[in-house]
Amino acid sequence: MDERLDAAFRFQIGGCRVFESELYARLLEHAQQDCEAGGPCALLLVGWPGDPLRDFLLLRFLGAVHARVLAGEAPELARHYPSVGGMPEWPGVWQAFLGVVEEQADALRPQLETFPQTNEVRRCAGLLGGFLEVARRYPGSRQRLREIGTSAGLNLFWDRYHYTLAPHEWGTRGSAVKLEAEWSGGSAAFEQVPEIESRAGCDIAPVRLADAAGRLRLESYVWPDQPERLTHLRGAVEIARADPARIEEARAGEWLAGELADAPDGVARIVFHSSVWLYIPEDERARIVDVLESAGAEATAERPLAWLRHEDSDERPGRMELLLRSWPGGQEEKLADGHPHGRKVDWLGG
Ligand SMILES: C[S@@+](CC[C@H](N)C(=O)[O-])C[C@H]1O[C@@H](n2cnc3c(N)ncnc32)[C@H](O)[C@@H]1O
Repeated sequence: MDERLDAAFRFQIGGCRVFESELYARLLEHAQQDCEAGGPCALLLVGWPGDPLRDFLLLRFLGAVHARVLAGEAPELARHYPSVGGMPEWPGVWQAFLGVVEEQADALRPQLETFPQTNEVRRCAGLLGGFLEVARRYPGSRQRLREIGTSAGLNLFWDRYHYTLAPHEWGTRGSAVKLEAEWSGGSAAFEQVPEIESRAGCDIAPVRLADAAGRLRLESYVWPDQPERLTHLRGAVEIARADPARIEEARAGEWLAGELADAPDGVARIVFHSSVWLYIPEDERARIVDVLESAGAEATAERPLAWLRHEDSDERPGRMELLLRSWPGGQEEKLADGHPHGRKVDWLGG
């Protein structure tokens, strides 16, 4: 088999195990063998013109199959996928998976052409302490939320979700999105309940929630043996559709400057992002930092600016860190680190 495809399999199988999807890890092991044997998976995956690793080809492939299950087009495989109420049984799950690949290859191909698109709502548990910290620093200010790499914009609604972060709790109990995470370290500013002035985001490929195909695509990339993620996603979609945020198709480096102008007194501008920095090229990153620093130079305590980053840690692979830089002043602080999907938060701030 193509060496690059082999490397992509090794990487993705490891990734599935790190993120606790034994179902996907094992299905990929079988798919790898099937590619070596020149079976139905090989027809879709071997000879991929790009770099299978950088293109996340295997996530595209798994997502394409999952979309068939979610659309009700793969009833045999559905019996094994917890996302639709099934339970994996081996070797039946692999046989059913292979059946879909063999019989529905033409329906799978279009989804292989596009980059995987996720919007992981539980990351809000990792971000929450940062928003509350901004509220604590600038009492009485309303928050102007601007998210870059927003995907479907679901994390712009972080304040409408309920959080159980034992022993802490925050948010609206009756929310359709109930997030649970392990919390360690000190307490964040859980007494704060900031008011949101407005919500907007940009993405190079935003998911349009009004479009059923867009919603199905977003769901298809949730791993089927992690059905609680699908429940969070569906609850958040319901909330976002009831009161849509402004989402624009744009590169972060081009969009941000216009969003930071005209700040009235009493509004704290918060630029945030989660699991996005990795995808932004160096020159665009530099531009974003320039835009933030220029706007920061004009910021006052009445018109502050905060930059909240929930991104991969350079020092601790497989961990996310939450960094807050705020103006006036421009100081940076590491507030937390934790699980990339917000399942654990180790609070380090104040
Ligand atoms: C892994 S997803 C994370 C989505 C969301 N922030 C979350 O936490 O679930 C990365 C997102 O960044 C977007 N993206 C990548 N490069 C970008 C850029 N230069 N400007 C804006 N969005 C970008 C992608 O389209 C994708 O939606």
